[in-house]
Amino acid sequence: MSLSPVYFILAIQGLAVNSFYRINKKNKMENHQAAVLVPVATSRNKKYSPAIRLWHWLNALVITGLLITVAVNSTVLKPWTNAAFIADKLKEQGIKVNEDQVRPVAFGLADQVWAIHTYLGYVLAGLFLFRVGLEFFELSDKKLIRKIKAARESFLQRKEDRIASRNEMLIKTLYAIFYLLLVVMVISGLSLAIGEYVPAIKQLHFIRDIHGFTMYLILGFTLIHLAGVVLGERKQHKGVVSDMINGGE
Ligand code: HEM
Repeated sequence: MSLSPVYFILAIQGLAVNSFYRINKKNKMENHQAAVLVPVATSRNKKYSPAIRLWHWLNALVITGLLITVAVNSTVLKPWTNAAFIADKLKEQGIKVNEDQVRPVAFGLADQVWAIHTYLGYVLAGLFLFRVGLEFFELSDKKLIRKIKAARESFLQRKEDRIASRNEMLIKTLYAIFYLLLVVMVISGLSLAIGEYVPAIKQLHFIRDIHGFTMYLILGFTLIHLAGVVLGERKQHKGVVSDMINGGE
């Protein structure tokens, strides 16, 4: 088994630990400054920390890459239809082969794309650990769990004009569900990858089913998320995309 994915994850974790350390150190310095000096605009006041923004865009990129590999293997490189295609093309060249003979070629091509999928999967797993770490190291008011609680309390306490707090609560809960889906995807994906080397795990076919099915839920979340961002930009949350790039105020 190639160890490069392991080195890769270790490298990501190394970066993560380094960045956590720097965030912590910076927070402490800023706390100290705030105590003795006039408050200044710093990344503490930002809606999104640099680490969260980095995680968000890398995560979006890697998930897009994973979805592209699935799309390629279910269309142009679909092994069952490709076997017939390859056999036909060889026939045009005067080479007579039947589909069974070229099927390993068709599967081999798809396997190369699955290998890219698996590498991207390791990166996603590393990013997920990075995100879990952030939940511990972020300032308390920036933690997702705190945000959900705050939105819920504000919704329950308000007597009127509750729509905004209800929406905020729903949006944050949706993110929590997305993280759950990520957990399922990462654990099932890693199991599929390990299954290549451990026959007992390979026999558990339901893992592949769970992995394949959760993809549709992730696709659903992505569409709702994109629709929410577009609606937000048009209505009361103008600048959300810019906030996720620049940090927001
Ligand atoms: C958003 C994230 C992901 C999506 C949408 C996704 C989607 C899929 C889909 C649809 C399949 C085909 C399942 C089937 O054959 O029915 C698959 C296979 C696979 N996935 Fe993922 N996956 C994701 C994340 C991961 C992660 C984190 C890993 C971890 C390494 C991973 C590793 C694998 C492996 C090893 C296979 C089997 C490939 C083969 O058949 O050779 N995936 N994935």
